[in-house]
Amino acid sequence: MTPASARAEACANIALAKYWGKSPLGNNLTAVPSLSLTLDSLRTRTEVSFDGALREDSVVLNGELLQGKGRERVTALLDLLRALTQDSRRARVQSLNDFPTAAGLASSASGFAALTFAAARALGLSTSREQLTSIARQGSASAGRSLFGGFVELPKEADTATRLAPPEHWPVVMLVAVVAAGPKPIASTGGMIHTALTSPYYPAWLEAAPRVFEEVKQGVLERDFERVALGMEHSTRLMHATMFTSLPPVLYLKGPTVELMHAITARRHAGHPEAYTMDAGPNVKVLTTREHAQETEEFLRGVPGVTQVLRCAPGPDATLLSLEGELKEAQAILDPAV
Ligand code: PMV
Repeated sequence: MTPASARAEACANIALAKYWGKSPLGNNLTAVPSLSLTLDSLRTRTEVSFDGALREDSVVLNGELLQGKGRERVTALLDLLRALTQDSRRARVQSLNDFPTAAGLASSASGFAALTFAAARALGLSTSREQLTSIARQGSASAGRSLFGGFVELPKEADTATRLAPPEHWPVVMLVAVVAAGPKPIASTGGMIHTALTSPYYPAWLEAAPRVFEEVKQGVLERDFERVALGMEHSTRLMHATMFTSLPPVLYLKGPTVELMHAITARRHAGHPEAYTMDAGPNVKVLTTREHAQETEEFLRGVPGVTQVLRCAPGPDATLLSLEGELKEAQAILDPAV
């Protein structure tokens, strides 16, 4: 039997209204609703080939063979699709991120979205995009949101993510100010479980998050920058407060992160349309308007401790890519001698 292959591309997403915490219902359902923006220039391309000759799944991420937990998470996701299609073949997975991996830049979101899309289509599964979000979400909850472009919501304890608005709804810009590009010290799932168990602020977060989500959602629908800015920053601080009030603390923020929080707040008061958000890492994502993006980018480039600034606009839906041309390109990246 010839291997069954497909290749897909998905963009990362950044939550404007955050989720942090799993539902007691299990199945990786989220304890609070979230709303994200898919980002056009943070992309993962993944090729999956199911091959009867393989004894186990092999996963290569950015040219490195994954072992241990990383590979287990990929195998667990592929197992869901193998069970659905009753196809027991193991797979060869090759994945490339065009941005720093596991630094709070949502590489697991684009990674699991691209993996789900490519693997499902390789196995001939013709389920809808929305149904695929249910599978991707079980690999990484935020990945459910990366199957769609534009503005995407994942309601509390929902099985599937849905599109709130397409990318062209609102031409905002998200600038990612990288202050540390290494892998994060505490993975998000472990961090969430620990927070839920030990932070006295976690119940308050569960109570507040749905209201903040509604604020951000209305702001996005009305294209009201100030409303989204205040809601997104509040959501960010509420989430990080549960993290660093856990015991021992989960503290992702670094000095330059906090300096940027001060600076962005002062700049917004001075009339710049800018707002910050941070995820499970120290990097700061700054939301601004398209008209103001150049000025914000120049400011961020001059901030001490910021090593890189990535500019992102609302990104597209995850897509399938042709195997032909793309394969050559991927091989060249993985092995420059090819
Ligand atoms: O679903 P995960 O494991 O990628 O966790 C994502 C958590 C945050 O990025 C901090 C918030 C969010 O809603 O994306």
